[in-house]
Amino acid sequence: MPRRILVTSALPYANGAIHLGHLVEYIQTDIWVRFQKMRGHVCWYVCADDTHGTPIMLRADKEGITPEQLIARVHGEHLRDFSGFHVAFDNYYSTHSDETRLHAEDIYARLQAAGLIETRAIEQFYDPVKAMFLPDRFIKGECPKCGAADQYGDNCEACGAAYAPTELKNPYSAVSGTKPEMRQSDHYFFKLSDAKCQAFLGEWTRAGHLQAEAANKMQEWLKPAANDGASEGLTDWDISRDAPYFGFRIPGTADKFFYVWLDAPVGYMGSFQNLADRAGLQFDEYWAADSGAELYHFIGKDILYFHALFWPAMLKFSGRRTPSGVFAHGFLTVDGQKMSKSRGTFITAESYLGQGLDPEWLRYYYAAKLNASMEDIDLNLDDFVARVNSDLVGKYVNIASRCAGFIHKRFGAALTAASSALLADAQAAGAAIAAQYEAREYGKAVREIMALADRANQFVNDHAPWELAKKADGEAELHRVCSEALNLFRLLTIYLKPVLPKLAANAEAFLGVAPLAWADAAALLPGGHRIGEYAHLATRVERKQIDRLVDANKDSLAPAAAPPQPVGEKTAAPAVSAVSTASPASSTPLVSIDEFSRIDLRVARIAKAEHVEGAEKLIRLTLDLGAETRTVFAGIKSAYDPAALTGRLTVMVANLAPRKMKFGVSEGMVLAASGEGPGIFLLSPDSGAQPGMRVK
Ligand code: MSP
Ligand code: ZN
Repeated sequence: MPRRILVTSALPYANGAIHLGHLVEYIQTDIWVRFQKMRGHVCWYVCADDTHGTPIMLRADKEGITPEQLIARVHGEHLRDFSGFHVAFDNYYSTHSDETRLHAEDIYARLQAAGLIETRAIEQFYDPVKAMFLPDRFIKGECPKCGAADQYGDNCEACGAAYAPTELKNPYSAVSGTKPEMRQSDHYFFKLSDAKCQAFLGEWTRAGHLQAEAANKMQEWLKPAANDGASEGLTDWDISRDAPYFGFRIPGTADKFFYVWLDAPVGYMGSFQNLADRAGLQFDEYWAADSGAELYHFIGKDILYFHALFWPAMLKFSGRRTPSGVFAHGFLTVDGQKMSKSRGTFITAESYLGQGLDPEWLRYYYAAKLNASMEDIDLNLDDFVARVNSDLVGKYVNIASRCAGFIHKRFGAALTAASSALLADAQAAGAAIAAQYEAREYGKAVREIMALADRANQFVNDHAPWELAKKADGEAELHRVCSEALNLFRLLTIYLKPVLPKLAANAEAFLGVAPLAWADAAALLPGGHRIGEYAHLATRVERKQIDRLVDANKDSLAPAAAPPQPVGEKTAAPAVSAVSTASPASSTPLVSIDEFSRIDLRVARIAKAEHVEGAEKLIRLTLDLGAETRTVFAGIKSAYDPAALTGRLTVMVANLAPRKMKFGVSEGMVLAASGEGPGIFLLSPDSGAQPGMRVK
């Protein structure tokens, strides 16, 4: 009987780029989903952007665009990055959607009807300049413990102390810099302290839905504080925020919004609802209290209590089913340390792909490292190079590349029937490998698969087809050995396919077989089966490619220091930086090399240059940066004819905050010189420079 399975990954925030840390989760989930689909189960993988909340609102403000524009842009970027790593969602949606809103409102109404919503006045810091209440993260001040300056409102990075924002000395608003005031406001709470919530969660967290270490952690949250008979363990959860807020208005209120973490997990439902409506699925088959389907959430350990406490309680007390499992993973470290922008190890998905690195190298490396625990996983860059080269190229692909030629040249591309103890072992290993995938012990699965690959290579070495090919009477043996090796290669392809979907598709084309499912391991390729042309399947990774990647990520993510810009051609400075000769260069203030290196200068090819309807000074440039293109409006019309610009190279500022102008969004700036007299002189690199190269 096929299972019906709904799988989610956490919804990434819509204000940042996908990086290699995120990818641990999305690759882990994608492997599991691909495995389930290969097994013949009905499995749906949904995700979405998490679009609401103060940081997104302020970020859009800073960029001079609306939150809707910001989340639309980031949605495109996220989808591009995920598909670049072969993460195959059945739906990638947005929490800023009617489906999510309706489900959030419905859940809220049901919780209210169950008597689990309460209103209370609370005191909170308020920024009188920005006219908004400040989340803890947007209040800074001196640590009450050690006195360190510029610490966040919740904990001190200098001494590690945790405290309430009200305890900070000399607090100031990180948004406007002003001194915040204490103000009162009514907030809505989900009464998790209610006895029925406590009882439900006490039981649910111990009923096998969580990893053992996660279940233990949750007991600490649930148990009444020591020496405090009155404490009821979990405290009520504040689910409202005051306007201005980018989110869903709470029904029946004028200026209260759902806190982003209330509607974020509801986004799983919203995304599935949207899929169901398009694909003709029954929403309730997956979400009703009596649903026979399975529901799994893959998440990072940092968001465990939202998924293991708040979310099951929201579902339970609004009359829905609860998750079958919450699978938390650890955090990514690079060379044993936290990802760091200054070391260049805060690596974006975009830069990895942009540097021409193969996404399946990373998928394979993560798979080899992943297990079902919440331990952190380390991307060791030397190990990455060694492992990919030795396993993928040296072991797996090597089997095919050493035998394919003989089958083509000597046997008209046709195999002979093969059967052996080794093949039988490799077929039988499928059950154990499947059990490891199912249990998210991918590292163990990969180890078993590579042990089989070792045996296959040993078999090829022992029988040395290149020697058989030289022997007058070696023909039949050569045919048998190569056919057996290619059958082994096919079995390994089945087992690796959840991890390496693209490589497997190329291997299928080479083997001349239809897309492989797990059950196909039960049979071998019959005698007479003709294989396809052998095309190169995998390349080696070079250490210097990794060095370039790390270099490209050094500080390139530091936020652009540009203040919010006015909008429109008249008021906005044209997107071209002109070096003026009016004053000697030596009179400008000095910058440090660090400040300079925050500016990401790139060689760009002008792919297109066009007149802008109605603009006096602007030319719209489409700039090719190698891995991506950007649109930039440059105020160079007085000096250049668009036709003369097409195809030439120039230099652009690639990390300038995008700016909305009257004619569209400008995504950077090209560099030009100008002086007292007329003329604007666009910079160009010497010949040989390539689009995307960093200028420093
Ligand atoms: N928006 C919330 C999740 C809402 S789910 C209803 C969020 N977003 S996030 O963008 O910060 O993170 C998305 C996922 O990526 C989370 O599960 C998080 O744990 C994971 N990771 C983010 N950085 C990570 C690493 N450095 N390493 C491993 N996983 C990481 O949280
Ligand atoms: Zn401190």
